[in-house]
Amino acid sequence: MLLSLRIITPLFALLAGVQAAFITDNCKLISHSDSEQNALHLLEPLTNQTFTTEGKEQDYSYIFQVCGDVAGMKDAGLVQKEKKGEKLVRIGNYTNTRAVRGSDWVLLFYEGGEKYDRHCSHEARKAMIMISCSTSTKNKFSVVLEENQKEEGCYYLFELDSSAVCPVIPSKLSAGSIFLIIVFCCLAVYLTGGFLYQRLVVGAKGVEQFPNYSFWSEIGNLSADGCDFVCRSRGNRQEPPTYRGVGTEALGEEPEERDDHLLPM
Ligand SMILES: *[C@@H]1O[C@H](CO)[C@@H](O)[C@H](O)[C@H]1NC(C)=O
Ligand SMILES: *[C@@H]1O[C@H](CO)[C@@H](O)[C@H](O)[C@H]1NC(C)=O
Repeated sequence: MLLSLRIITPLFALLAGVQAAFITDNCKLISHSDSEQNALHLLEPLTNQTFTTEGKEQDYSYIFQVCGDVAGMKDAGLVQKEKKGEKLVRIGNYTNTRAVRGSDWVLLFYEGGEKYDRHCSHEARKAMIMISCSTSTKNKFSVVLEENQKEEGCYYLFELDSSAVCPVIPSKLSAGSIFLIIVFCCLAVYLTGGFLYQRLVVGAKGVEQFPNYSFWSEIGNLSADGCDFVCRSRGNRQEPPTYRGVGTEALGEEPEERDDHLLPM
């Protein structure tokens, strides 16, 4: 009992250590669910990066990070920055997160930002970031909508194109390769089964161990005959001159010719 505890406790510690390796675990879900946690984990490649975009009216810019502090503001995942006064407004906390996942997108919510002064019934600001699959290696961040002229339910909507949320396409085998694999498997089973049968039951030796050896050698001979008949033109076949004849002729004449040149006149 004590021993098993001693083994299990470090195991748990190890698992906890692996868990903490996710930077996206710094995000805190408003209501925890495994599917939302998995959606967050998909965004892991986007952590430790700062994304910036201009506002619709050029006097603001927005700064965004996945599960990390922006502009040194504690817990702020998305911040609006006034260009003139450098004033920072918290749009949403990554410690107040929701994450919804589709086949090739993740919708990230940062809530609990600074309250609106006049409009939107003084509710807290919040941001929605639509992260969509893009095959481009460059991540593109932009603002879509600054919905803040309503009585309630105001929000800031952003878009981020990234390959991080693209679906993993399983490699599919074509019908042809599946057929070939089946044929090879059958052949392998036939050969091994037949080999064992011939060796152990019939007691064959050498090439005779191949299953149905006589049948296959017959087939081989027949096809060789067929090929011989079709491919060869026996009619006008002549005996090719042997190399030895050519060799002796050349050897017999050439040295004499050469010698002639060398003889003194
Ligand atoms: C992310 O950034 C933090 C602080 O800036 C740094 O300590 C950490 O090593 C970085 N992690 C990765 C994976 O780059
Ligand atoms: C957002 O984070 C700030 C800083 O930690 C905190 O003061 C504020 O209460 C948070 N908002 C909510 C709704 O929790």
